Amino acid sequence: MALSIIDIIEKKKFNKELTKQEIQFWIDGYSKGKIPDYQSSALLMAIRLNGMTKNETFNLTDAMMHSGEIIDLSKIKGVTADKHSTGGVGDKTSLSLCPMVAALGLKVAKMSGRGLGFTGGTLDKLESIPGFSINLTSDAFIRQVNSIGMSIIGQSESIDIADKKLYALRDVTGTVDSIPLIASSIMSKKLASGADCILLDVKYGSGAFMSTKESAEELAKIMVEIGTYFGKNVQAEITSMNQPLGLAIGNILEVIEAIETLKGKGPKDFTELCLSSGATMLLQGNIFKNREAARTALKECIASGEAFNVFKKFVEAQGGDVSYIDNPKKFPTALYKHEIHCLKSGYITSINTMALGIESMHLGAGREKKEDIIDPTAGIILNKKLGDKVEKGSLLLTLYTEKEIDKTATQSINNYFEISDKPIHVGSPVEELITYSKEKKEFTILSE
Ligand code: URA
Repeated sequence: MALSIIDIIEKKKFNKELTKQEIQFWIDGYSKGKIPDYQSSALLMAIRLNGMTKNETFNLTDAMMHSGEIIDLSKIKGVTADKHSTGGVGDKTSLSLCPMVAALGLKVAKMSGRGLGFTGGTLDKLESIPGFSINLTSDAFIRQVNSIGMSIIGQSESIDIADKKLYALRDVTGTVDSIPLIASSIMSKKLASGADCILLDVKYGSGAFMSTKESAEELAKIMVEIGTYFGKNVQAEITSMNQPLGLAIGNILEVIEAIETLKGKGPKDFTELCLSSGATMLLQGNIFKNREAARTALKECIASGEAFNVFKKFVEAQGGDVSYIDNPKKFPTALYKHEIHCLKSGYITSINTMALGIESMHLGAGREKKEDIIDPTAGIILNKKLGDKVEKGSLLLTLYTEKEIDKTATQSINNYFEISDKPIHVGSPVEELITYSKEKKEFTILSE
């Protein structure tokens, strides 16, 4: 019997499991414009309300992945690696981590996205380096990864056609916050991008998509299982976004912090995330057999300048002006610099990270709508982090912007920080590492 989209919507409305053929029919029809937005919206909402079984989520990922081109990285010599973060505030990890692991022999072939709302995007950060191009032909991309060990480019228009249409539709139909839809959206893109090993950084907390650690774990597990099922080495770390990562939020400010980190002078939490994620990626790629040895090698490639050198070669290969990398003082600075001081003494016990991400976006560092133009100089530099002791009147953070700053900013920004009498313990940003064994059909969770 011929399939019908109305029957498929009806079936999901009553929470019955869709078959592989039905899911394939929907995704194929929607990608080719044969099924309209209004029917896909109804089906998305039925999925959002009723969830999906594991089989349905796997089949959806499969259908989405095959809705466009699958990138062939077989001409790259060595183990290819990719990483993906679910997005956060001050997340410049790819800029430092990729050169670190490339310096030790992994081949990083990465496609990244732009920032939207309170989260930043790797492409916007890279484009704040004068001359840097995120557009390479697939031949040039492969040549560059072979010659210098890494490349980061924009997502090709031809991969995962279904996700581009579905994500835009989910955004305007209240159907973004669905674990099976998020998992299939992320994994279909990552699988179509072709790398052998994928490290997922699933963030939770006040500045992340997933507000609780439990929901982050649920998303991480299904994504790791999907990736393993499709024959890739996929692992996920659960990391805290209960404070911005590092001290810098905003494009040029974050590029400068990533450079400092590659020179061994980065903030403690961000450096720890790069070392921990780097060690995991090197183990995934079988470059090292032991985590401690991998961490030591990563520290050595920072100390020797090798990781920084890879970053310079990467910037140069993609047209960026390396004189800015050698001398970050050359980067333009914002017109206004406004210091915010603490209104109270004590210990910082909580930070509304999303509010800081939104503040940074309003300063010009991010986009409210896709079409908005970013000011690369805008953003925030934190002077204090979670757990720090502060004195009334001491510097809390500095705002950078081309816009006039509202006189009430000191009070409103202080409201994003909870300051108490008692100190708190702040652990490593990487809290768990999740792997899945296909043979044993079980997860292993390593806790920090
Ligand atoms: N990022 C994605 O790529 N897809 C989602 O659905 C959510 C976050």
